[in-house]
Amino acid sequence: MERLQKVIAHAGLASRRKAEELILEGKVTVNGKTVRELGIKVSGNDRVEVAGIPVEKEEPVYFILYKPRGVVSTASDDKGRKTVTDFFQHIKERIYPVGRLDYDTSGLVIMTNDGEFANLMMHPKSEVEKTYVAKIKGIPPRETLRSLEKGVMLEDGKTAPAKVKFVSLDKKKQTSIVELTIHEGRNRQVRRMFEAIGHPVLKLKRETYGFLDLKGLKTGDARELSPHEVKQLRSLAKFGK
Ligand code: URA
Repeated sequence: MERLQKVIAHAGLASRRKAEELILEGKVTVNGKTVRELGIKVSGNDRVEVAGIPVEKEEPVYFILYKPRGVVSTASDDKGRKTVTDFFQHIKERIYPVGRLDYDTSGLVIMTNDGEFANLMMHPKSEVEKTYVAKIKGIPPRETLRSLEKGVMLEDGKTAPAKVKFVSLDKKKQTSIVELTIHEGRNRQVRRMFEAIGHPVLKLKRETYGFLDLKGLKTGDARELSPHEVKQLRSLAKFGK
């Protein structure tokens, strides 16, 4: 069962907000009856029509995008900034990102119109690993990086153990490149973890999501995932590692 406005939005007929307006305006019927409430849920067996046109469920589609910096991870932006959906104008399906990357973070974002898949991937119990490459201020000693591995205290609790790999340093500029692999997805988590150890992030990129990486993609490029990759992601999320 899914909310009526979500079904309309997923069918690609309108944004979620526009779908709500259509319902309130009395343009939506379920099994022939006009519905004006926003709360109701419908199943695949219910016949939904918008202004007399039947709503067909879209085929699920799955992509990865190499998000550039300076792009928001939402379907639309009230400040008029470029969004991740702007890279998919040739796609008729209404897709949205699985989780978020900060405006200033580049890297791998999964995009889909499959809400069930998106929820599965984002569920904290799924524990899908993501690897980030961070350019940080300063040159952290080994023990400091080890504290990231053990977990650091943030304002929303201690982070789960992470994997850390020191990549390189620039002695003159006093910066380092460090790879961090985490399976949680808290807001600005990587930036906050490095901040907590006194080495703020200067630049951040998500390199991998589970077994997916950015190989063959340039910034701003996207590619469709194969059915096999989608299946593998599902099983990764369900059974953990
Ligand atoms: N952690 C961050 O701090 N930023 C992101 O965009 C993703 C993870």
